Amino acid sequence: MAAPPRDDPWRAVDMINQSPPVDCSKPYDTSTLADKTILITGGASGFGAAFARHWARYGAHLIIGDVNDRAGEELVAELRSSSSPNQLILYQHCDVTSWSDQLALFKAAASLSKTKSIDAVVAGAGIVERGDPVTPSATSTVFDLPHALDSDTTTTPPPPPLKVLAVNLTGVMYTTHLALYYLPLNAHGDRHLLLISSIAGLVPLAGQTEYTVSKHAVIGLFRALRGTAWTKGIRVNVLTPYFVDTPLLPTPALALLAGGAKAELEDVVDAATRLMADEGIRGRALLVGPEMRVVDEEERGDGRRLRMVEGEGRQDGERRQAVWEIYGHDYERVETFVWRYLAVLNVMRGIRGWVGLVRDMLGICFGKRKRG
Ligand SMILES: NC(=O)c1ccc[n+]([C@@H]2O[C@H](COP(=O)([O-])OP(=O)(O)OC[C@H]3O[C@@H](n4cnc5c(N)ncnc54)[C@H](O)[C@@H]3O)[C@@H](O)[C@H]2O)c1
Repeated sequence: MAAPPRDDPWRAVDMINQSPPVDCSKPYDTSTLADKTILITGGASGFGAAFARHWARYGAHLIIGDVNDRAGEELVAELRSSSSPNQLILYQHCDVTSWSDQLALFKAAASLSKTKSIDAVVAGAGIVERGDPVTPSATSTVFDLPHALDSDTTTTPPPPPLKVLAVNLTGVMYTTHLALYYLPLNAHGDRHLLLISSIAGLVPLAGQTEYTVSKHAVIGLFRALRGTAWTKGIRVNVLTPYFVDTPLLPTPALALLAGGAKAELEDVVDAATRLMADEGIRGRALLVGPEMRVVDEEERGDGRRLRMVEGEGRQDGERRQAVWEIYGHDYERVETFVWRYLAVLNVMRGIRGWVGLVRDMLGICFGKRKRG
């Protein structure tokens, strides 16, 4: 579908301060990571741990919250042994479904950081449904397999297992709410919220209904939030990775279903690092998939420029890519309510700016008079 023209009256991209599409073939500057205070939930394993290892090398301060205390403590010991003594590297137990745990994590991060503030937050904690995908059982956490709800007992059967929603959605909402409060307290640094959705946020992952719901919800959170977070100077971005080998995948069988072509952890780290390091990226979504070969339009002749390279040898001079910009179109053309709401936000922000300016001017004049 062709993009609406840039002078479309319903275009809201500039109103929300969204940056242009990310060109993932371009290099980015990692020096901005030095001294950044980054809080990561679910950071003891998988993506979160890989981000922490990578960003620590560039001098970032890391506050990691997780329920896997052993893995978290081991990671922190490893990072401390290889980082500068000036770097804050901290692990704290945090069950993201517990509001008080998350509150304590944010408070610890802000109070222990050198600048008494947080520059970036990664909402990484996540789980999937586990159990036999076909046979209902009392221990299964698969949502679409109700079990013994009509049994003739006096006790009420338990409600459906909604732990995945609790971690992947309520937990992420708590993290986001706290980030919206804590990031603006940071007067001089970056203010970045990185959400982690999934390919299951874009397409249905049959058999993982609750997971799919939670990851679609994270996309909804991202789409709505990028329309308002700019008012607090916060940039919100999201990653939607395809299957990657981490302890998240419950059985090798599920990983096998993904086929031979999985996404690579190093590409997820690369995409997250681009979003974290490039402070000009605002309101963008990156998909991380198996590496694809960029094919000329002439070569395909149908307007599509990509195709999978699985099973093919690399050819000289060809360009491959695993990270792709997606979901950029929302604010290219919005409907009346959204446009008007954003227009009001812009006006209010402008007024607040003027009020602040007048207050500052009065302060300056008053101060001068007082001194004189
Ligand atoms: N691995 C994949 O294929 C894949 C693909 C797309 C998206 N994701 C998403 O990426 C994120 C990270 O997953 P991963 O692959 O690194 O898996 P992982 O299992 O290696 O890491 C997830 C971390 O979250 C922690 N966690 C679980 N419940 C928690 C809770 N209640 N409170 C705090 N921490 C909790 C776990 O202990 C673990 O350390 C998840 O949101 C996942 O849904 C993963």
